[in-house]
This record gives sequence, structure tokens and C-alpha cells, in this order.
Amino acid sequence: MLSNIVVGAVVAFAGSVIADSVSCPSDSPLSCSSSSSTDTCCYNTPGGQILLTQFWDYDPSTGPTDSWTVHGLWPDNCDGTYEEYCDSSREVSNVTAILKAKSPSTLSYMQTYWKDYQGNDEDFWEHEFNKHGTCMSSLETKCYNSYEPQEEVVDYFERAVQEFKNIPTYEWLSAAGIVPSTTKTYTLAQIQSALSSKHGQNVVIRCSSGALNELWYHFNVKGSVQTGTFVPAAPVGSGSTCSSTGIKYLPKDGSTSPTSTTTSAGSNPTGSPGQLSGTGYVYVTTSSATSGGFLISGGTWYRNGGTPATYTATASSDGSTFTLKTSKGNCAVQSNALTCSSSVSSATSFGYDGTYLTYSGSNAFYATSVPSGTTQGTVYTASKSISLKLTWTAT
Ligand SMILES: *[C@@H]1O[C@H](CO)[C@@H](O)[C@H](O)[C@H]1NC(C)=O
Repeated sequence: MLSNIVVGAVVAFAGSVIADSVSCPSDSPLSCSSSSSTDTCCYNTPGGQILLTQFWDYDPSTGPTDSWTVHGLWPDNCDGTYEEYCDSSREVSNVTAILKAKSPSTLSYMQTYWKDYQGNDEDFWEHEFNKHGTCMSSLETKCYNSYEPQEEVVDYFERAVQEFKNIPTYEWLSAAGIVPSTTKTYTLAQIQSALSSKHGQNVVIRCSSGALNELWYHFNVKGSVQTGTFVPAAPVGSGSTCSSTGIKYLPKDGSTSPTSTTTSAGSNPTGSPGQLSGTGYVYVTTSSATSGGFLISGGTWYRNGGTPATYTATASSDGSTFTLKTSKGNCAVQSNALTCSSSVSSATSFGYDGTYLTYSGSNAFYATSVPSGTTQGTVYTASKSISLKLTWTAT
């Protein structure tokens, strides 16, 4: 009996400390719902309304042509005002290096889906954490059991990426017939209905020069930002900025993102259309935002955590195509299936369209099902029930 009491006491104490294996009590109050909670590690305050904001950057265009990109994860006060730059002592100037060391798959994902329109991804990421992340009460150092410097920076970006993956705006809009077009326009009500029917709450829809370019999805959080539950919430604060009709949703031009002027490790020197060279990870995207995953060394699709295999791209002499190889050997398409193996004698030529890998001029790849657990999925070049696209993230 005594030991049970001791254990209970430890758990109760640990409830306010967020470390790898410890989370907030399951009955933690929802942010913005209670003014009596004083445990700011498990009740975000004053910034209790959390916004996941997304960009549609079409001029210049950044990110995949069929995906929105991350702007940031912001804590708004429950009345729509907000704090910013809350702790200069925790500001960072090395997000890429921190994530490269502590969460490389998050970094790789961000290099595709969290893009600065001027090509300075590192600066953009620093700005988001320094301005907004330092104002999240559950990310404060006292909320960690044995705090290691920059631990909360990793948590900030991991959570933002996790929530972004839950909100596949491009798919939500296209399911309602709202697709990028140089000629069509849409009404605010059409866009709101397409999004709020999925999100469960109104979304703040923002336009620039009459064209859709940003969305704010609002949440309250039960528990911490790191590990808590995000509950969609009605927006407080400023509303939509689009007119009610005639809204343009302009296509991205499919060109690559502007390349950062620095080429330090972790910047994003993607190849120009046609060719890739050097080492990179190959990520899998599907129309379902929850699928994802990456290619491992045999050329198969894997989704059960871990790290993508390093692929080496070697450009052809005229630079128009490239071959791929992994630690297993050269990669080839054999019987319509991708394989990388020491038994491949002649590597297949692949291409790059600026966003996706291509084979025989097409960026369409396929699988018969979405692999789960430790199952590896074969990637096909001939039509099957699941459509895939393959992105390249230079390492
Ligand atoms: C990031 O910068 C901080 C402050 O300069 C430094 O202490 C830390 O070691 C850096 N982290 C990495 C992974 O380089």
C-alpha cells in the first residue's frame, strides 16, 4: 500500500513536467477555458489560442505545386491580441543545425513544406520560433524535467509539422472542386464551406491582391503544446480579408523555390528541372496527408518511423537525367517496380520536374496499398490503386 501511495505522489508531481515519457494529466483543462489553472506547463496562457497558419505562395512560388506550405504555429491570447518575442535569452539563430542534430526527418520535411518565399528558410524558421515559440508557456524551460538547451525548439517545430500534416488544405479544397486556375474564381462562402466542413470550425481566409494566399486554422489545446490535444476552435481576433466573390486561386508555376544564397548544410539546393545530383532523401507523398513516409535503401516505401535512406544522384553527361543508388546498390525499374540492389547492373535514368522525381517523363508512381507497421511497400511505375509522388530533399 505504501508504495502505491508513493507512486501516486510521484505521478501527481510529474504531471506538470513535460519530458519524453511524461505528459500532462488527462484532465488538463482546455486552453482559454479556465482562469483558475496555474500550471502554465499544462495550460497555455496567456497565449491559449494556437493558430496553425499556412501559405499559398504562387508568386514567387514555393513548395510543391499541389500543397500549401507552413507559415507558423502562433499563440494568440484568448481575445485575439497576442504577445511576441517573449524571451530573448531563448532566441535561436541555428534552427537547421538544431534539427539536423535532434530531428532530421522534421528538418527534411520542412525543407519541402516550410518555405520562405525569398529562399531564406533558416531566417524564416528562426523568426517563427523567436517571435511566437518563445511565447508558448508550455515550452518554457521550467516545464522540462532535465532541460537541455534548445529542447523546446525541437518540440516547437515537431508539433507545427505534425499539425500541418493533419490539415491537407490542398486536398480539402480540391475535394470541393476548388483548384488553382488562372481563369476561375471562387466565392468566400465556397472556400469557407470546403474548409470548415473538414476542420469543424470557421477558418480565417486571407487574400492578397484578390487572390487566396493564407489560411489561419485556430485551436485550443488540452495540455501542453508539445504533447497535448489540439481542439479546433472558432477564431478570435482578426477575420478574413478576402472579398466575398471573385477570389482567385492562382497556380504555382512549378519552378523550384529560390535557392538560398548560403549553401551550408541543411539549406535546400534542390536541382533545377531535369537533373539532380548529390545526396538526398526521397519522401513519398500521397493524396492522404496522413500517409507520407519515405524510401528506404532497397527502393521500397516505409512509414514506420526511422530515417530515410541516403540516395546518391549522379547526373548524366548532358545533365538531363540522373541515376540513383543507395547502400544496397544501383536503382532500376524492373518489371514496373523500383528496386535498388547489388544485382542491378544497369541503373535506370530518372528525371526531376522541379518538384517531383520522374520516370519516363511522368511523376506518377504507384503502390497497391499504404504500408503499415514494418511492412515495406513496393513502388510501381505502372498504375495501381494508390498514387504516389516522390520528392527530393538534398542532404
Ligand atoms: C545552437 O546555438 C546555440 C547558441 O549559440 C549553441 O549553444 C548550440 O550548441 C547550437 N546548436 C547546434 C546543434 O549547433
